[in-house]
Amino acid sequence: MKPDIKRIAVFTSGGDAPGMNAAIRAVVRTATYHDLHIYGISRGFEGMIKGSLNRLETKDVGNIIHRGGTILKTARSEEFKTNEGRKNAFESLLAYDIDACIAIGGNGTLAGADIFSKEYKIPFIGIPGTIDNDLFGTDSTIGYDTAINTAVDAADKIRDTADSHNRLFFVEVMGRHSGFIALNTAIGSGAGNVLIPETETSIDDLIANLKKGAKRKKLFSLVIVAEGNQNGDASEIAKKIKEKFDFYDTKVTIIGHLQRGGAPTCMDRVLASRLGFAAVEALVKGEQNIMVGIVDNKIKYTSFEDAITKEKPLDDDLLQMAYILGL
Ligand code: F6P
Repeated sequence: MKPDIKRIAVFTSGGDAPGMNAAIRAVVRTATYHDLHIYGISRGFEGMIKGSLNRLETKDVGNIIHRGGTILKTARSEEFKTNEGRKNAFESLLAYDIDACIAIGGNGTLAGADIFSKEYKIPFIGIPGTIDNDLFGTDSTIGYDTAINTAVDAADKIRDTADSHNRLFFVEVMGRHSGFIALNTAIGSGAGNVLIPETETSIDDLIANLKKGAKRKKLFSLVIVAEGNQNGDASEIAKKIKEKFDFYDTKVTIIGHLQRGGAPTCMDRVLASRLGFAAVEALVKGEQNIMVGIVDNKIKYTSFEDAITKEKPLDDDLLQMAYILGL
């Protein structure tokens, strides 16, 4: 049964991701098309607690589709994890007569939306926005494509200098819990080795691989390290390798938050536009407490519970391929 929805709010939460602005634009314009009043909440759940809501009109989202970051700003809210925080957030929504919310963010954002919508019976729709690509129920999350392009661009530049000096570089990319960025950066940049959270690669295995390369007169090498891998950060790993195998002069580069910024790729703009549009359409059809995603190029709805608890597996064949191609 379609609930009577007239006023909705949209917000971004957690780590920002390139393409979030394109999603906000699509949400605002689709809502306006359906004669819904739409409000933007500043700084995610923090702004919801503080009542930082502003009306958004079509013109407010002009000239943002190409911009990185989020015009609504974002935050990681500790207060929203408390009963008191969520109660205050609910009172803010009541004060503005908000009937439903659209949340753009990653795992933590959808987990917050899930608890809140169950507690206060407010319909929520989630849009997957995180560079990590670690949400079940969508082939890609908003920002992921831009992030891997940034990481590959950086790795290409490092390759030039690594080659000139015959050096071994450890290049750390983001991904606390998942290796999507690292694995695809490794394949795209032709790196010889990759360390990801999902698979254990011991320091000795890594050294064995590097030795194989050195034996074939490989004079430089790149190792892509996901920040959440099981051997520590790139500097720690570099130190451990150096102690046991000093054939190469070793350097470390952490790409860090560069991966979160910059203009979204066309892929991310299109993905964000489709998901923003689909989120409002879902609300209009009476859907609630689901994440909209795209699987095999089709819009798919996934319950919050599945989106946040089910694991999105990495393709083991890709890992094996990366290893073979990087030999
Ligand atoms: O979840 C996105 C992400 O960029 C992770 O890859 C990274 O570990 C984390 O956020 C960093 O968060 P913050 O910017 O809050 O330090």
